[in-house]
Amino acid sequence: MEKFVISGGKSLNGTVRISGAKNAAVAILPAVLLADSPCIIENIPNISDVTNILLAMKALGANIRTINKSTVEIDPRHVNSFVVSKQMAEGMRASSYFLGALLGRMKKARVAPPGGCNFGVRPIDQHIKGFEALGAKITFEGGLVEGYADELYGSSIYLDVVSVGATINIMLAAVKAKGLTVIENAAREPHIVDLANFLNSMGANIMGAGTNIIKIRGVDTLLGTTYSIIPDQIEAGTYMAAAVATGGNVLIDNVTPKHLESIIAKLRETGAEILEYDEAVRVIMNRRPKKCNVKTMPHPGFPTDMQPQIATVLALAEGTSIVTEGVWDSRFRYVDQLTLMGADIQVDGKMAVITGVQSLSGAPVKAVDLRAGAAMLIAGLATKGITEVEEIERIDRGYEDVVEKFSALGADIKRVYTPETNEILKQA
Ligand code: EPZ
Repeated sequence: MEKFVISGGKSLNGTVRISGAKNAAVAILPAVLLADSPCIIENIPNISDVTNILLAMKALGANIRTINKSTVEIDPRHVNSFVVSKQMAEGMRASSYFLGALLGRMKKARVAPPGGCNFGVRPIDQHIKGFEALGAKITFEGGLVEGYADELYGSSIYLDVVSVGATINIMLAAVKAKGLTVIENAAREPHIVDLANFLNSMGANIMGAGTNIIKIRGVDTLLGTTYSIIPDQIEAGTYMAAAVATGGNVLIDNVTPKHLESIIAKLRETGAEILEYDEAVRVIMNRRPKKCNVKTMPHPGFPTDMQPQIATVLALAEGTSIVTEGVWDSRFRYVDQLTLMGADIQVDGKMAVITGVQSLSGAPVKAVDLRAGAAMLIAGLATKGITEVEEIERIDRGYEDVVEKFSALGADIKRVYTPETNEILKQA
């Protein structure tokens, strides 16, 4: 077991380079299965969610060659299996994308339901509705979701909820279907546009990605391509929030400022000065944060994946803020952990009332999910004293080189092996 030990209370200063977007990578990598020749994917984040996807692709029969830390060549020509087992899917929310990609490639798929972060029920009914509209028969056998079709045919699909996963999965299945598919009430996140750009660069015909109506005209063949994944909006937002919470001055490099608009707007309300450049933003904070209210919504609203991080900033703000979760049923599990550090937060259903305190105090806390873990890091960095963050494998799912990146900004943060790890290493 490992944990992070943070000796906080220092403002962050310097430059951090943002990695490729996790939620784009976990869609684009399975999409490679649709190609008839090898693809080179660049700017892949080196995180455990991506490693798990690549291992699953290898098990399906893909040939994977690492070119460098952030670039791989994937040859899907010999993929002959359509099964992603429970063991392969464990801990991987995006396993469901193999359903769309394998249905698109082989017209059959057998995939374990997704694991990953636990914040309430995570249904896939809209994905299934989409596959069925395209002509697939979906069944549940032995804990696996099975999809099968003789042929997939374009169709009109209206999503009852704006779902990132369903939009992506339907795109993956429809891209080689016969005829025109229209997804209405589609999600508009930057990673949806990135996936569409990738598929189009292989020869797909997708229009409207980034709006709430996406049109996909099926093609017979997709050819390998070289493609670079967009920067991670949420990793960038996390370092921005950390700069604000610690009263720092940080250049967040290799970002697309347009993807950060809602985060920039809210952090400005807390009193931060934010300068925007072509591919970077600078965050300067010279004061205690001011209160502000935040409601999470699908893109272009404020992202739910930044909710715990901004709540941590507001836990230190002057005044009382209200944070409303508009995407997930239950995404306030981190609040108990922040409370252990002295935060004053009352949760009522989908709303948290945060009464800012002057300072938190270091404590042992847990990363109860990926972004909750990011919030613990921010809290620890902003707090004098020692904060120990446990269950950090959840943070490693989505943040590349987090210790190295925060250390380069002047933070005192270490990855420490706990006695249990030493025991395991001794026995090995
Ligand atoms: C994606 O999850 C992200 N994961 C999540 O990020 C993110 O929180 C979420 O989108 C919302 O932005 C990946 O991209 C891998 P949804 P996804 O389908 O696709 C309901 C992170 O921290 N819904 O957009 O699973 C659902 O219950 C992760 O990086 C249905 O009702 O989310 C939720 O309330 C965590 N039926 C809402 O829609 C469905 O069939 C949005 O879910 C699907 C979803």
